[in-house]
Amino acid sequence: MMPQMIDEINALKKEKNAVILAHYYVNDDVQAIADYIGDSFYLSKIATQVKEDTIVFCGVSFMGESAKILNPTKTVLMPDESADCPMAHMADIDKIEAIRKQYDDLAVVCYINSTSELKAHSDVCVTSSNAVKIVNALPNKNIYFIPDEHLGQFVAKQCPDKHFIFNDGFCHVHTSISVDNLQKAKAAKPDALILAHPECKLDVLAMADYIGSTSGIIDFATQSDAKEFIICTEMGVLYKLKQQNPDKRFYSVGIRQYCPNMKRITVEKVKNALLHNETQVHVTEERRKEALLPLTKMLELAK
Ligand code: 13P
Ligand code: SF4
Repeated sequence: MMPQMIDEINALKKEKNAVILAHYYVNDDVQAIADYIGDSFYLSKIATQVKEDTIVFCGVSFMGESAKILNPTKTVLMPDESADCPMAHMADIDKIEAIRKQYDDLAVVCYINSTSELKAHSDVCVTSSNAVKIVNALPNKNIYFIPDEHLGQFVAKQCPDKHFIFNDGFCHVHTSISVDNLQKAKAAKPDALILAHPECKLDVLAMADYIGSTSGIIDFATQSDAKEFIICTEMGVLYKLKQQNPDKRFYSVGIRQYCPNMKRITVEKVKNALLHNETQVHVTEERRKEALLPLTKMLELAK
């Protein structure tokens, strides 16, 4: 990366009193200039704690939107406003309302990978790192889990006392991993442990030695005595995995695990966002108040 670009970004950060947050899936050089890097849960918590006036969110729309909902007085900038998670749109308001009518005690549990509109119609948000804890803490027996069917099924297995209704949303990056891919990867590296994100399909998860969020995967590999790992999540996590574990080896499942939306964020776009202040996240006050409730409940229940 050009040192001049870094100097320019640092000067702009100072001038605008800004901080850079980045998800583990963005490009390596973007992670390298971030003040905070993490999984969705960590980033939503950090967004409520930073002192700076401006947050540059290097991730997809739902992340910037959540930061703005939680911090309405801050300016939240998205380096590329078209970076959007397709799964965030994969649930239907009419269906939510129809299912609410069927069950008296329904809790609509909304994965944070969702639009503010979906959040506004939900009771509590979850991320991949806190979903099991939060669902178990709910008094409700009936859970409508949106939008991700696979994370929903993974959580349902850990919460046997609950009755789950699933939605058919999915992440194309994680569901593209098949048992066949994984068996071939394991045959090539029999000593490697398999670490998987819970957005993968259940048959893939059944082969995993560890299942967790991006932070969970990085922490597990860092603390493990094992030396080789097959990673079943987006390839961006390799940056931190290799940085923290230079003596360990990380393998993919043979197919490219690549989120094109996360990769839209570039260092140049970060600079331009700071320079022009134009790519700000806007949420109407009415929508913000509605979507804030399930997000606040998540932060409370996850404590
Ligand atoms: P994390 O909760 O691990 O950050 O996952 C976010 C995500 O988008 C997974 O595809
Ligand atoms: Fe969405 Fe999947 Fe990309 Fe995560 S990896 S942002 S769930 S498309």
